Amino acid sequence: MRRKIDLAPSILSADFARLSEAVQSIEEAGADLAHLDVMDGHFVPNLTMGPPVVSWIRKTTQLPLDVHLMVEAPATYIDALAQAGANWVSVHVEADHHLHRTIQAIKERGMRAGVALNPATPVDCLVEVLQYLDFVLLLTVNPGFGGQEFIPASLKKIRKLRDLITSYNNKVRVEVDGGIAAGNLREVVEAGAQIIVAGSAVFCAGVPVSQALAELREIADSCSNGLEE
Ligand code: DX5
Ligand code: ZN
Repeated sequence: MRRKIDLAPSILSADFARLSEAVQSIEEAGADLAHLDVMDGHFVPNLTMGPPVVSWIRKTTQLPLDVHLMVEAPATYIDALAQAGANWVSVHVEADHHLHRTIQAIKERGMRAGVALNPATPVDCLVEVLQYLDFVLLLTVNPGFGGQEFIPASLKKIRKLRDLITSYNNKVRVEVDGGIAAGNLREVVEAGAQIIVAGSAVFCAGVPVSQALAELREIADSCSNGLEE
């Protein structure tokens, strides 16, 4: 039976010298996806990993790889990411002049296509592409770093996005990323999130990863957002 809420731990907050152990730890703890934050030092003021590292991670896990592209010119990475074994790819609307074409490129390579929105970007910008998307990734912090505080106004934005999805394409899933932890997970899910990204709440909670993820799972399973899948 498919769970209603998917948990996608972000390895951004893990020890990058021991990435394979980090990925295995979330897989063993029952994660649904591994969220990989690709940053280029231009679109966001931080550098992380590129397709070669994604391909090494691919060899260490069966989990679907959810690649969040925080880069300029994201279309130039799509081929390499497909070859690296990425399963889900999201590109920022703010970084792409030809979003429609990039979404098609992602789908043509058999990956799930998502569009990511910065906190300052209104959800209405999705109207013309929503019909082609598998998911929307809503940033609830300004992207670039783990461990930041959830922006409270995001709850209203999640609800707005849900309304938009209801009118345009009910199959699009809502993924929410940034500042989510046990203390606010319930309100995020109840606002309409279906896929939850959590980095510091999984890797820096001061308890084993398995325990941190189990706690998030328990909360997520006890929430209702009225969305049946
Ligand atoms: C932020 C990244 C997030 C980050 C989330 O730029 O997109 O995926 O890892 O980390 P937390 O959960 O600590 O906010
Ligand atoms: Zn992310």
